[in-house]
Amino acid sequence: MSTMKRVSLETENVEKTRAFGEKLAQSLHLGDVVLLQGPLGAGKTALTQGIGLGLGLDSNVTSPTFILVAKHTTADGSIALYHADLYRLSDPFEVADLHLGEQTEDAVLVVEWPERAFDELPSEHLLIMIEPDYDHQERRRLTCVASGARYEQLLTGLET
Ligand SMILES: Nc1ncnc2c1ncn2[C@@H]1O[C@H](COP(=O)(O)OP(=O)(O)O)[C@@H](O)[C@H]1O
Ligand SMILES: [Mg+2]
Repeated sequence: MSTMKRVSLETENVEKTRAFGEKLAQSLHLGDVVLLQGPLGAGKTALTQGIGLGLGLDSNVTSPTFILVAKHTTADGSIALYHADLYRLSDPFEVADLHLGEQTEDAVLVVEWPERAFDELPSEHLLIMIEPDYDHQERRRLTCVASGARYEQLLTGLET
């Protein structure tokens, strides 16, 4: 029986969360899927910004307002990040229509609010849950959970 691999950490401010995203990006491969769960204002977009910095993207990651998925690439086009925010999703089947898993085989996929359409997203992924700390305004607890051998390996790499 395999146990799910988990890694927990705390960040003291938004810069530390971005820095963790940057570090995570160093270990990401094209085709990887990262799901970010947490309440509004938890820091999901901030973490995605860090991942974008780490990947060397040409454009800044922002909170998509009306679009479900934004695509960012590096200047030479060699690396793409698909940033999905499913907050406003009304019907999970809208995500099925996007074929996110297939479209992003050669890119990194980051999804905010994955719980809106969990069954439509790749079952192998790295899930990062971000929780505010109500005693410390700027502190967040990040819990990373790997689903699948690839992501267990990724988390093992992050620990060392
Ligand atoms: N440790 C922290 N990590 C991430 N964001 C933090 C932290 N402390 C404070 N913040 C603030 O919380 C907000 C997070 O916003 P955002 O990343 O858009 O959240 P989400 O995408 O989860 O709704 C930002 O205003 C950021 O400055
Ligand atoms: Mg967001």
